[in-house]
Amino acid sequence: MPWTPIVDAPTPVHALERLSRHLGSEVWIKRDDKTSSIYGGNKPRKLEFLLGEALARGYKTLVTGGGIGTNHGLATAIFGRRLGFRVVLGLFKQPVTAHVRKSLLLYHAYGAELFFVNNLLSALWRFHVTERLRRRDAYFIPGGGSSPVGVLGYVDAGLELAMQVERKELPRPKAIYLAVGTGGTMAGLVLGLRLAGLRIRVVGVQVAPRLLANPRISLRLARKALKLMRRHDRTVPDLDLTQADMLIDASYYGAGYGHPTNGARRALSLMAKTEEIELDGTYTAKALSGLLHQVRSEGEKGPVLFWNTFNSVDLSPMADRVEPGLLPEAFHRFFEGGLVE
Ligand SMILES: Cc1ncc(COP(=O)(O)O)c(C=O)c1O
Repeated sequence: MPWTPIVDAPTPVHALERLSRHLGSEVWIKRDDKTSSIYGGNKPRKLEFLLGEALARGYKTLVTGGGIGTNHGLATAIFGRRLGFRVVLGLFKQPVTAHVRKSLLLYHAYGAELFFVNNLLSALWRFHVTERLRRRDAYFIPGGGSSPVGVLGYVDAGLELAMQVERKELPRPKAIYLAVGTGGTMAGLVLGLRLAGLRIRVVGVQVAPRLLANPRISLRLARKALKLMRRHDRTVPDLDLTQADMLIDASYYGAGYGHPTNGARRALSLMAKTEEIELDGTYTAKALSGLLHQVRSEGEKGPVLFWNTFNSVDLSPMADRVEPGLLPEAFHRFFEGGLVE
């Protein structure tokens, strides 16, 4: 299948020893924050297949989008431009944090063209209707990179973890915790683990609106990705996946996408204090707050695995080179006034 190398795989796994001692429970981490030394997190895995397909089909322009702080948009700009694509991002409003401001500067620094859409629904309309009519020669990547092709990146990740368990780099986890935004990461991981013959409970922590982050969407993505694989290779087994395989917990979501929660603030600071690993408030801190709550309330002794999907490469020097005034005017207002902490 079309594919282009981006990820430094396998990403490390290790015990979080100080956090485990603090909790009295064995917690491990999968360091997908280190998927690439250029820009890490969960997006490079999806882009290996997405950009591979766009290259193979001869596309020159990529169109995608998300909230104004979208990590997927940034990853697409970084790796897409490196591979010679024109990159267009449609962005809608979310709470303005320091991370959001930095992301906006970085889209510009990496040469993406930006347009503003009012909200998620208008973004979906423009993405699925108007932009497709206007840009018939562009490769459209859904938000979060969650198409059946993008999901293959996390099928790979599931197989990679199974290999690490087999090599005894980590004990077989009783459960895996990760953030669910557009559902592709969860879909691929569940599918990859099942293809490797590992039945591990994967707990998705909802961090985006239910319209996107729900078991039905993840299941549909996993089934479509499996169908795609079987179309290329009939030796891939036809698995029976159901909604029960896509556990998505809404308890740690708070007031909305990008809205901080107290649990996430505490999780973020505990991880920084015990392990010196930086999480983000929108995705990974909410996922860790779910893990911490389960471990504490259920007395779960582990081992449990926390899947870190947030990039840990510091791109501040690139962001510092950009003046906000260089962005299209619609985005200037996000640099005025206070920040959400
Ligand atoms: C840091 C981070 N973690 C997790 C996710 C969620 O992944 P998915 O959209 O595949 O559910 C995203 C993107 O959406 C992300 O940027």
